[in-house]
Order: sequence, then structure tokens, then C-alpha cells
Amino acid sequence: MNNLQTTSLRIANNQLWILDQQALPQQSNWLDASTVELLVGHIHALRVRGAPLIGLSASLLLASLAERGESREKLGAALETLRAARPTAVNLMNNLDRMKQALGQSDWAGALVNEAWRLVEEDKQLCDAIALAGSKLVTPGSRLLTHCNTGGLATAGCGTALGVIHKAFLAGNVQQVWVDETRPLLQGGRLTAWELGELNIPYQLICDSMAASLMAKGEVDAVWVGADRIAANGDVANKIGTYSLAVLAKYHGIPFYVAAPVTTLDSSCPNGEAIPIEQRAAVEVTGVAGSFGAVQWAPANAQVCNPAFDVTPAELISGWVLDSGVITPEQVRDGVFKAQA
Ligand code: MRU
Repeated sequence: MNNLQTTSLRIANNQLWILDQQALPQQSNWLDASTVELLVGHIHALRVRGAPLIGLSASLLLASLAERGESREKLGAALETLRAARPTAVNLMNNLDRMKQALGQSDWAGALVNEAWRLVEEDKQLCDAIALAGSKLVTPGSRLLTHCNTGGLATAGCGTALGVIHKAFLAGNVQQVWVDETRPLLQGGRLTAWELGELNIPYQLICDSMAASLMAKGEVDAVWVGADRIAANGDVANKIGTYSLAVLAKYHGIPFYVAAPVTTLDSSCPNGEAIPIEQRAAVEVTGVAGSFGAVQWAPANAQVCNPAFDVTPAELISGWVLDSGVITPEQVRDGVFKAQA
């Protein structure tokens, strides 16, 4: 298997390594992800995260295990274990469906390697196509608000919503980015802030609760987010806090765009209510933990609710920016996502 290097994935000597997204930006640590147990642990802990990246990491691990001589039976079991690693982002299931087809071929080892490679190359192209389509919607002087992390860290390419923002910035149309810190795990405050800094794009970090007053003051021109799953009726599951932004944007008359690749579509899922939402550990809400250590502020016996994602109803979305172009609310109402089933 050829070596590979993306922003957050690496294949060297047929072994998978991941950039620890929980340690960034304070530390840049590459971690061994060469077994199913290791990778599932990294996915649970969000050391590997972002809808496209989860699917790609699982596919690359299967390919590297095949290259290292793992049996077909064990690979089949590994595929099912990986499929269950996180429930909400459908890219994982969509990528693994393709890997399962490869496993069914007579030259299954070679087919797995080729398929994983294709998925990585395709993801780069999907990101580029999304960036091109989305950047045309960004008007000169835009102050854009984004949530969570949708950049090169979360994909094999330039990212989804952040790829759009970068392309629009290079075209001279982005004045600055408002970065939601994205409680509880701070993907915005840690990862998006870091990526924007690397790209030299001006940004200001805000607490999630500050978005409303900025919108009221007319300081947000559009909201751009990614997606973990798009249902057939256009409802979108994304990082918790996305729905509140969509409601706020609607109230203030601000366009709200979702950028995602075709691998995020789930045409078999009728609507947002049918999307499984991951519930995560209380400790993420009772305090914070990171490469700097851990702090708990809530009482030790505090009861906690911690859904990792929420669902934004289609009626709040101004446009779905896919690799195939910009999908309008009218097209969604006409069933465009159902047609792609
Ligand atoms: O829990 P995470 O960090 O994996 O959640 C990530 C998101 O919600 C992203 O917005 C989404 O996966 C799109 S990434 C291109």
C-alpha cells in the first residue's frame, strides 16, 4: 500500500496513524491507529473526528489490515465493529458499504486497498467541488459565522464549510470569520481557530451564546456549517448548537448554508427524527479536559444531558452546498435527495 499524508491521516509502512485532534493546537501528536481497538478508541475519544474523516480512517485501516495479511473473516468482523464506532455521521456507514462490496470480490485484499484509496481521492475532489460551488455564494466583504470544525482536519481535502470559506477568502470576499467555540468539546475554539490561523484568514473566537447579539447588531452576513447526515427531506444533523444558529439566522434574515459531500446524504432516512443522535459522557459537560489537564466545575453529582448533535429542520436552511452544486429549498421540497436514493 502506498504511503499517504493528509492533514490528519497518515499511512506509513502499511500502518495507519492519526493526528490527535484532542491535543491540538497545543500539541501535534501522531498516534498509532493500526488496530481496530486502537482506532475505535480514537474515534470514541474524538481524537479522530469529523464526518468524512471517520469514514476514511475506518476504510484505510481495513485496507492496511488486508495488506498486512488479515483473513477475510476477521476483516468482515472488523468492518462491522468499525461501523458501530459512532452512530450519527453516515459517511462512516456509506464508506464501509463500499468497503464491504470490495471485501466480497475474489481479489478482496487488492480491492480493499484500491477502494480505500479511491475514497480518499474522491473526498479531496468532493471538497474542491463544494468549495467552488459554495464560494460563489459569498458576497464581497462578508463576515461569516461557522460552528464546529469542517476543515482539512475533518476531511482528506480542504474541508467542507471551511473549504468554502477559504476559497471565498482567496477570492477576496471574506472580511472575517466568527468562530463559535463549540461547547462542550471546543472543536471551534481549538481546531477551527487553529486552521484559520494557519490559512491566514482573519477570525474572532466567540462563545456560542454570543452569536445572537452579533446577528442583532448586523455583524454576521451568513452562517456556514457542515453536516453529519442529511435526511431525504433535507433535515440536517450536525454538531450540537447548529440548530440554535439556524433559528437565530432565520429570525435575523441571515442566509444559513450547509456544506457537505455526497457521502453525507442518507436518502433512506426520511427525516431528522429518524437520525440517531449520539449521547456522550457527562464529564464533557461538567468541566473540560485537554492537553492542558482537566478542570471540573459542576458538583460531583450533577445530572447531565449531553447530545453530541442536533437536527436543523430543512425549512431553516437557505441552501445545501454539495459537490454537485447548490441545492435550493425548492429542489429539496421537490424530493431531490429522495431521487438520489
Ligand atoms: O463530534 P465531531 O467533532 O465529529 O462533529 C463534527 C461535526 O459536527 C462537523 O460539523 C461535521 O462532521 C462536518 S465535518 C466536515
